[in-house]
Amino acid sequence: MSNFKRTLITSALPYANGPVHIGHLAGVYVPADIFARYLRLKGEEVLFIGGSDEHGVPITLKAKKEGTTPQAIVDKYHGMIKDSFEKFGISFDVYSRTSSKIHHETASEIFKTLYDKGEFVEQTSGQFYDEEAGQFLADRYVTGTCPKCGFEKAYGDQCESCGTSLNATDLINPKSVLSGNVPVMKETKHWYLPLDKYEPWLKEWILEDHKEWKPNVYGQCKSWIDGGLNPRAVTRDLDWGVPVPIEGAEGKVLYVWFDAPIGYISATKELTPDWKKYWKDPETRLLHFIGKDNIVFHCIIFPSILKAEGSYNLPDNVPANEFLNLEGDKISTSRNWAVWLHEYLEEFPGKEDVLKYTLTANAPETKDNDFTWKDFQARNNSELVAILGNFVNRVLVLTNKYYEGVVPVAGKLELRDEEALATLIQLKSEIEKALDTFHFREALRLTMEMARLGNKYLADMEPWIVVKTNPERVKTVMYICLQITANLTIAFEPFLPFTMNKLRSFLNLGKLQWSELGRRDLLKAGHRVNTPELLFEKIEDDAIQRQVDKLLATKKSNELEQATVAPAKPHIEYDDFAKMDIRTGTIVAAEKVAKTMKLLKLTINTGIDQRTVVSGIAEHYEPEQIVGQRVSILVNLAPKNLKGIDSQGMILMAESKEGKLVFVEPSEAINDGAEIK
Ligand code: 2FM
Ligand code: ZN
Repeated sequence: MSNFKRTLITSALPYANGPVHIGHLAGVYVPADIFARYLRLKGEEVLFIGGSDEHGVPITLKAKKEGTTPQAIVDKYHGMIKDSFEKFGISFDVYSRTSSKIHHETASEIFKTLYDKGEFVEQTSGQFYDEEAGQFLADRYVTGTCPKCGFEKAYGDQCESCGTSLNATDLINPKSVLSGNVPVMKETKHWYLPLDKYEPWLKEWILEDHKEWKPNVYGQCKSWIDGGLNPRAVTRDLDWGVPVPIEGAEGKVLYVWFDAPIGYISATKELTPDWKKYWKDPETRLLHFIGKDNIVFHCIIFPSILKAEGSYNLPDNVPANEFLNLEGDKISTSRNWAVWLHEYLEEFPGKEDVLKYTLTANAPETKDNDFTWKDFQARNNSELVAILGNFVNRVLVLTNKYYEGVVPVAGKLELRDEEALATLIQLKSEIEKALDTFHFREALRLTMEMARLGNKYLADMEPWIVVKTNPERVKTVMYICLQITANLTIAFEPFLPFTMNKLRSFLNLGKLQWSELGRRDLLKAGHRVNTPELLFEKIEDDAIQRQVDKLLATKKSNELEQATVAPAKPHIEYDDFAKMDIRTGTIVAAEKVAKTMKLLKLTINTGIDQRTVVSGIAEHYEPEQIVGQRVSILVNLAPKNLKGIDSQGMILMAESKEGKLVFVEPSEAINDGAEIK
C-alpha cells in the first residue's frame, strides 16, 4: 500500500429518491465492497463510508411527483436503500444521511470557513425563474439542449449524456420542468467558487501528479481542465437543503453538490470521534468509488473545496466506472428500466453472491457494459455451479467417502502436485496486482482460475480410478485438493462473502487472512470436514423467463405511454361545429353485414326516429353484446349507401392508444334525442 497507513473508502451517496438498481451496484458499491473486504482480509486499517444524498432537486421533484414532502421521501428511500444494502452484504462501516444534524453542521462549518477566508465570489445575476410556479429553477428544474453535445434533455447543472457540468443559463431552449414554460430571467444573489482560480493547481495535481488514474477518469479531467474552468455557484434558491449559514442569504441553501461529498466527512464523524485521523492525517489514503457522471464533482469541484479549506486530505485515486446497461438499453429510473436490488433480493433469496459475481464479471470498468438475464444464468450455471461448486462438492464428497471426512496424511509430492501448488502462489500475486489497481473484473477472472485449476487437477488425477490400485497416492491427491479448497475460501472472500462463509462451515474452518493464501497446510491432516451441501444451485430457465417477461411488460407499457396522441387539428369557427346535429341514442338491434369483416348494421333509436347506421366496429364488438348500448350519433350526416344498405348517420367512437374503439356515451341516463352541443 505504498506510503499509506490506512485507507478511507467512500462510495457515492445515492439520492434517496428511489431504490438502488444494478447500475449503482456494478458501478460503485460492488467494487468498493470488494476493495474494502480485500483490505480487511489483509489486516489493513480501512473505513468504508456510505450514506444517502438527501438534498437537491432530485428529492424535491420526487416529493412533488408523489404529492408528499421531501422529508417523507428521504425517510422512505433512505430506509429502503440502507436495508437492501445490508441484506445484499455491502459491508459499510457506516451508512449515514445528509439530512442529519451532524451533516448540516459539518457542511455549514466548511462553507463558513471558506466564506470567512474570502474564497467565494459573491455575485448578483439573472437566473431562470418560472413565473407560473413562482420559483427559481435550480439545476434539474430546468432542462434544455446541451451546448456541448446537443443532447436535448440536459439538466441545468449537468448533461448526463456527455458528462459536462453546466450552468442553467448555458442550456439552449431552456424549459421549466414545473410548467413546461420558457423561463424568464430574475436577479438573485449567489456565492461562487472560482474554479478558474484553481485551474493551475488542478492541472498540476491531476494532469501531472495523477497520471496513474484510470484513463476514463484522467481523460475527462483533462478535457475539462483544457476547456477552461468557470466560477461555479455553490448556493441555490430552494427551500430544501442546508441553509446558507451567512447573513443576507435567507431562503437560500447550499448547492447539493457542495454539501453531498461533505457527507463523507459527516458520516466519518458520526462513526468515530477519531474522524480527523481519516481526513487529515496525510498517511491516510482517500479513495472515491463513483460512477462516471460524478467524475467532475469528485475530481474537480470537491477537491477544490477541500483545497480551499486547507486542512483535509485530497483523494489519492477516484476509480470511477462507466455505465451498466440492461438488455441493451440504458438503465432508467423514470422508465422503470432496471433490476431493482430490493426486488432481486426477494425474487432470488440466498443468491446475493450470484448477482455480485455477474456484476463483477461484467463490470463496466473501461466502457459501458450490458447486463442480460441470459448471461446471469450462464454465469451461475456454467461458472459458479459447474466450476467452483462442482470442484468443492467433489472434493468434500470424496473426502467423506474415502476418509469419513478426515483430512488424510499426504505422501511425497509429485511434480504435478508441486505445480498445482505453485500455480496457486502465482495466481495470488496476479490477483493482488489486479485488485491493487482496481481491476476487479480481471481479479475475479484470476480467482476463478484457481477453482479451474482445482477442477483440472482433480480430473487429471482421477482419484476415483487410482483409488482401486494406489490408495496411498489418492491420499496425497485429496490432501492437495483440500488445500486448494481452503485457499479458495480466502481468494473468493472479497467477491463472494456469503458463499465463503458457507464453504468455511463445510470445511469446519475459521476465517483466514489474505497472507495465508497460497499455503499448503491450511487444513491439517486429521482435521475433520463436514458433509457438504450444494454451494450453488442451478438457475432454471423459467426463473429467467419470468425476469425477461417482466422487462418485456415494462417495455410494452413504456411504448404505450410514449405513443403520441394525434396532433390538434386547425381551428374551426363555432358555426362549423354548430352545423353538426349530434344526439344521444340507443342501439336497439345489431347484425353483421354479410361478406364484410368490419361492418355492423345497427338500428338506432335517435329520439327523432329509428334509423339504420352502418358502422365499422365489427372487429371490436359482437352484435348481441351492444344491443341497449347508449351512443352519440351524428344524425345529419348525408346518407350513404354501404354494401347495399342506406346508412343514415354515424355513431361517435373514441380510439384508444391500443387501437380499441369505445362508445362515446352520456355520463348519466338521459333521453334519446338530447342534443350534444
Ligand atoms: O449521482 C448521484 O446519485 C449523487 N447523489 C452522488 C453523490 S456522491 C457524493 F458526493 F455524495
Ligand atoms: Zn452534453
